[in-house]
Amino acid sequence: MSSVLTATNLQKTYRTPDTVLTAVKDVSLSIDRGEVLAFLGPNGAGKTTSIKMIAGLIQPDKGSVMVNGYNPHADTRAFASIGAVLEGNRNLYWRLTPEENLSYFGVLRGLSPKVARQRGRELLDRFELSHKRKSVVQQLSRGMQQKVAIAVALVHDPALLLLDEPTLGLDVEATETVKRLIREVAAEGKGILLTTHQLDVAEDLSDRTAIINQGEIVAEKATAQLIKEFSGTAYHIQLTELLDDPNCITKLNHLGITIAPQSDSQRITIEDLTQLYAVLDILNPRTIESLTRDKATLTEVFLALTHKT
Ligand SMILES: Nc1ncnc2c1ncn2[C@@H]1O[C@H](COP(=O)(O)OP(=O)(O)O)[C@@H](O)[C@H]1O
Ligand SMILES: [Mg+2]
Repeated sequence: MSSVLTATNLQKTYRTPDTVLTAVKDVSLSIDRGEVLAFLGPNGAGKTTSIKMIAGLIQPDKGSVMVNGYNPHADTRAFASIGAVLEGNRNLYWRLTPEENLSYFGVLRGLSPKVARQRGRELLDRFELSHKRKSVVQQLSRGMQQKVAIAVALVHDPALLLLDEPTLGLDVEATETVKRLIREVAAEGKGILLTTHQLDVAEDLSDRTAIINQGEIVAEKATAQLIKEFSGTAYHIQLTELLDDPNCITKLNHLGITIAPQSDSQRITIEDLTQLYAVLDILNPRTIESLTRDKATLTEVFLALTHKT
């Protein structure tokens, strides 16, 4: 079985003295080895609650979770397969050094002190943190702290890595570094669940995308496919020069294509793909600079699926 995570029909209701809120109504997710799943949704949609149920930290009211063949709510062996960087800064001891954090959490996850130290050294080296191994975490930059948190989540070599907003608050350079690490970790064969509000990050990294809105999954597909489905059907031909031949313009007008006056180059939009070759014939032998299709971004897909209409 290549699936590292199967979460089925998860549901969670929070009860406080004066409110009852079903934060997660029905969430099913699966992740294969080597796959990055972007788990997206507006604030309050239920992402963190879902991740905590997957990590075995809060008990679902309904549904089940299997990580690498083990149920984290019934079998502690599941924890060997789960690494998590949760929201906020509670994943590390701020008064300890990266080295000490890695040893501590390595042992907590079942490694011997010697193996934990060894794994810690390897990860610090790989994450380019060796020179900071003896500085207390509190004194490191936000980007370095986040790298230490990810290293700690990987110390016991889990099959599944859960990352809740891993690039939140990072600058551009640190974001790129974290993205590179996520790609590398996936390439090693780990399954990764990634939530982020930076949809360009999700679009760059994910193989599949699941979108949650008000506790329910509203879309779940290969990211490229999702973007394709939301992309327009219009094509744009960009000419290097202005189209000023009246004969040519009349022919295009006959096809229902109007040409807006422009200054130097000319863009012609074709709404109906069957006209493409006829249009190219008319334009021949003018030089075409580019032929492009309207392409949606994950941001547009996300807004379309989560905006209440
Ligand atoms: N411990 C809790 N007690 C009561 N309500 C909670 C608790 N944790 C989260 N919620 C509520 O559940 C909903 C989903 O929260 P959360 O899972 O954190 O969403 P997200 O991570 O997508 O922003 C929100 O309305 C939030 O206020
Ligand atoms: Mg959250």
